[in-house]
This record gives sequence, structure tokens and C-alpha cells, in this order.
Amino acid sequence: MPVISLANTKGGAGKTTAALLLASEYVRQGYRVAVLDADPQKWITNWYETGGKDPSLTVISEVTVASMQTHIREMRDQIDFFIIDLPGQRDPLLATALGLSDHVLIPVQGCAMDAKGAAQVIELLAHMKNQAKITIPHSVVLTRVSSIATTRALSAIKDLLVSRGVNVLETPIFERSAFRDIFDLGTMLHKADPARITNLDKARENARVLALELKRLLPAKRREQPLGLAARLRQRAA
Ligand SMILES: Nc1ncnc2c1ncn2[C@@H]1O[C@H](COP(=O)(O)OP(=O)(O)OP(=O)(O)O)[C@@H](O)[C@H]1O
Ligand SMILES: [Mg+2]
Repeated sequence: MPVISLANTKGGAGKTTAALLLASEYVRQGYRVAVLDADPQKWITNWYETGGKDPSLTVISEVTVASMQTHIREMRDQIDFFIIDLPGQRDPLLATALGLSDHVLIPVQGCAMDAKGAAQVIELLAHMKNQAKITIPHSVVLTRVSSIATTRALSAIKDLLVSRGVNVLETPIFERSAFRDIFDLGTMLHKADPARITNLDKARENARVLALELKRLLPAKRREQPLGLAARLRQRAA
């Protein structure tokens, strides 16, 4: 039951979209998925209530610093993947979620580079490593990448991030109307009607490859995470 967080303190980077397409793909593969919806806009909660319901999917819409760890602990035996959708701003939930994560995925738009918001998350992860000796694996995923973007343009962005020591996923998330349409239609990618969504097959393939790459980065068995960051810091200070 690994925990994956989507984090970037810049609004609109593509966190919620990435969270939904990963949830959708893991459900398609037969896994039981729980989304912890910590985005104040509650897109995934609304989507779930307007048609996204599925027996393999749980959406928790009331998530607080105090309750996040409890939700995970209480559901850990019934859930294969926890996905935490975080707010697009600095928020106390961010550090809590990072501390509970097995992998932090940082969406960065291929064109605009939400560099500052991504850098804040990466700095916080470095701080947790230095102060609390918690190493949390993390990667940038390039999002809203134009399907006509050249491999060279993409490599240039990747190389820049890699030169700064950031792991960048091989698979970007392409700009596709399908990723917007599934929110509007209240459906998952694999349940959607190809007659109503353009290039649905390409969107599904993108989600499939991304979910596969991410799965390879997750631990086979989740590491134990008995204490949150605040508790660890208190313990170290004592
Ligand atoms: N790959 C994509 N293809 C097409 N549209 C996208 C894609 N990713 C994001 N969008 C659109 O960009 C907008 C912002 O995306 P999203 O809501 O996923 O970002 P966010 O990081 O969750 O934002 P916030 O920080 O406000 O929560 C939305 O309108 C969404 O539909
Ligand atoms: Mg969001």
C-alpha cells in the first residue's frame, strides 16, 4: 500500500489531473485505490460524486494534518495505492503528506516550468532529509506537454533538472483534452466512451505508461512510517 503524493506549491501545475489519471489507471489494473483529496477545490471529490464512483476507489474528502495519518493507517490493509492530491499553495498539509509518502511526484509544466513551486517542494524534502534524516524518493513529471513537442525540447528541460540532481520521469503527461473531459463527464479513462472523447486511446496509453514507470519506483513493501515529521523533530530535539 504505497503512498504517492502530488505536490507543487504553484497552482495549476497539473497535480489533480495527474492524481486522477493515476487513480484511474491503477483501478483499471484491478488495484484498490484511495485518493486523499486535500485540494481545497475538491475536484476529485466532485468528480467522484458526479459519476466517478467505483467499488475499487475510495475518495476521502475531509483531510487534515491530524487525520491524514489516521486515514492511511486505518485503510492500509484494504488499499493498494494511496494517492494524495495536495493544494497549490504552501500549506501545513504539504509537510505531513510528504512525510507519509513513499514517492512524491512533482508535476511541472513542460512549457512554463512551474519552477518555483517545484523548488519549494524539493527544498522541503531536502530539509526533511537534513533535519529529520527522512529520505523521501521524489520525481518531477513533466505535464501538459504538447504532443508535437520535439524530443530535443523535452530533453533540454529534462537535462536541466537532472543537472540539478532531480529525477525526471521518462514519461511526460501530454496535453490532452481527454484529461479534462474525464472530469467534466465524471468518468475514468477506461470507462469513458471513445465516441465522446477525442484521442481517448492515446490518453489511456499515456496513463498506462506513466503508472507503470511510477510503480517501478515504489517499494515492493511499504516502509514503516510510524512517526510524522513533527514528532521526529521533537524526538531529535529532546
Ligand atoms: N495533461 C493535461 N492536458 C490537458 N489539460 C490539463 C492537463 N493537466 C492539467 N490540465 C488542465 O490545467 C488546469 C490545471 O490543472 P490541475 O487542476 O490538474 O492543476 P493543479 O496543480 O491540481 O491545480 P491547483 O494547484 O489549483 O490544485 C485544469 O484546467 C486542467 O484541466
Ligand atoms: Mg489541484
